[in-house]
Amino acid sequence: MSSDKIVILTGAGISAESGLGTFRDEGGLWAQHRIEDVATPEGFHRNPDLVHAFYNARRAQAAEAEPNAAHHALARLEREHPGEVLVVTQNVDGLHEKAGSRNVLHMHGFLAGALCASCDHRWPAPLEMSKSDTCPACGHAATRPDIVWFGEMPYYMDEIWSHLASADTFVAIGTSGEVYPAAAFVQEADRGGAHTIELNLAPSSRVSDFAETCFGPASQIVPEWVAQELSR
Ligand code: APR
Repeated sequence: MSSDKIVILTGAGISAESGLGTFRDEGGLWAQHRIEDVATPEGFHRNPDLVHAFYNARRAQAAEAEPNAAHHALARLEREHPGEVLVVTQNVDGLHEKAGSRNVLHMHGFLAGALCASCDHRWPAPLEMSKSDTCPACGHAATRPDIVWFGEMPYYMDEIWSHLASADTFVAIGTSGEVYPAAAFVQEADRGGAHTIELNLAPSSRVSDFAETCFGPASQIVPEWVAQELSR
C-alpha cells in the first residue's frame, strides 16, 4: 500500500448531490444573486440585512444536508490510507466533517462560524445572524459570517502552498477552476512533482493542467477512485 501524501481540493460540485446548490451551473447561486451584493465586503457594508439573509438561508440548508457517498469516501481514505490525506475545501458547508474527515482546511471560511469585524473574535454562528448581533468578546454590533468574500484573502494560504509543494497526488473534485487562488493549485502541485487528477461532472476550465481526468457524478466516481487508491 502506498504512503503517498494526497492533497484534495473540493468545490461545490462535491456537495451538489447532497442538495446544496453550486455557483456556476445552470440556475446556480450566481444566477440567483449578484456576487457584488452578497459576497463582497462592499455589498455587506451597503446592505448587511441582504447578506445575512443570503447566508442564513444557506446555513439553514447546510444544517439539514447530509454528506453523500463522495464525502464518505474521502473520510474513508483519510482513515485507511497510510500516508497523509488533506482536504482543502472551497465549500463553506460542514459536510466533510459530518462524514468524518478530520484533516480539513476551509479556505473560504464556513457557514457555522461567526466573525467580529471589529476585534476578529470568532465563535460558533447562531442559525440566524443579524446586523444587530453583538460580539461576545468586544460587544460591538460588527458581526459577520466567517466567510471569505471576493476581494478578501482566503484562509491558510501559506499552509496550503506548502502542502501542495510536498504532495505526491493532487486531486480536484467538483470545482470549475474559475476562482483563484484555488484554480492555480493544480499547477503548483504539478511543479512539485505531484500526479494530478480531476474528478468532475464535466471538464473544468483547468482540465488541460491535469495528468488524469475522470468525469461523472462525484457520488459515483469519488468512491471508485478511493477504492482504486486504497488497493494500490
Ligand atoms: N459531481 C461532480 N461535479 C459536479 C457535480 C456532481 N454531482 N455537479 C456539479 N459539478 C461540478 C460542475 O461541473 C462545476 O465544474 O462542480 C463544479 C462547480 O463549479 P462552481 O459552481 O464554480 O463551484 P466552485 O468551483 O466550488 O466555485 C469556487 O467560487 O463563487 C466562489 O466562493 C465561491 O467557493 C466558491 C468558488
